[in-house]
Amino acid sequence: MKRRDFVKSTALTAIGTSVVAPLSALAESPVTHFESEDLSATAAGPDANGYPLNFIALGDWGRNGECLQLETAKQMGDWARVNPSDFVLALGDNFYPKGVVSEYDPLWHYSFESIYTAHSLQGDWFAILGNHDYYSEPDAQIRYSKISRRWHMPARYYTKEVSLGQGKGKVLFVMIDSQAIVQNYQDQHPEKQLAWIDQTLKEASADVKWKIVVGHHPSYTVGPRVSNYDTLAIRKVLNPIMEKHKVDVYLSGHEHSMQHLKPEGFTHQFISGAGSELTHVTPGVAYSRFQASENGFMYFSIDEKRLNVKAISVTGKLLYNTQLTR
Ligand SMILES: [Fe+2]
Ligand SMILES: [Fe+2]
Repeated sequence: MKRRDFVKSTALTAIGTSVVAPLSALAESPVTHFESEDLSATAAGPDANGYPLNFIALGDWGRNGECLQLETAKQMGDWARVNPSDFVLALGDNFYPKGVVSEYDPLWHYSFESIYTAHSLQGDWFAILGNHDYYSEPDAQIRYSKISRRWHMPARYYTKEVSLGQGKGKVLFVMIDSQAIVQNYQDQHPEKQLAWIDQTLKEASADVKWKIVVGHHPSYTVGPRVSNYDTLAIRKVLNPIMEKHKVDVYLSGHEHSMQHLKPEGFTHQFISGAGSELTHVTPGVAYSRFQASENGFMYFSIDEKRLNVKAISVTGKLLYNTQLTR
């Protein structure tokens, strides 16, 4: 499948033919399951790098271009022009200071559309909510999916599967709404969401090679929130589920830095929350493999045996490069 076809079919999947997951009975709001897309090696754009799946992960960004948001966006565009990128994952705190009030809020223009302008960034963005997005109207970010071709948030939590090629298995993304869990918002029925996460991971098909949970709040960090309520709250309820189902990666934002942490257990934690404002990190913590308080984004490249992660700075510097293998 050519890249152009992939983009088109993804958009159709998101807008037209979303399939409601069988587990939706557990969820309060409808949960959308994206059909698997076939990303053969030939689908790669600029320079095929040997991986059938590549994507950018960016959190904590929408500040009207300030705090190096604009410069980081430009670097993302440059990166995606010469490196294949199938989509962008937006990891929450998409709009500071207080989310958006509607799908017509001017911030869509000032903090998103006029910032991530590169042609290479016009593919699909799959987004989740952060705590700041909750201050106004979180569901406006779901509704924007109907206006924008590239923005996809089908529900407050949802799944996405991507094929790694014929007979090569697939990657399961479980996109969660961690703010509802951390704050225990009763109207959002966090216990139902947790049951859904558990069930979704449990029922992952045998050809799922990598399980990636994507949420806004990290469950470990070496930033300012090392032992904050948020961090401990999400760790308490999410980590047992991720360990039970051998989740390979928990990818989050919330901390305004980039980190790779490997606490005891199975799951690797990556934080990519350096889309605009920065906060400090503390080096030397036993479970940390990498931390940087620099603007930038993470770039994931995955095949059936390798999961490669790079941290790229706002100036295009490769800050970190690591690979998990099967
Ligand atoms: Fe944030
Ligand atoms: Fe946050």
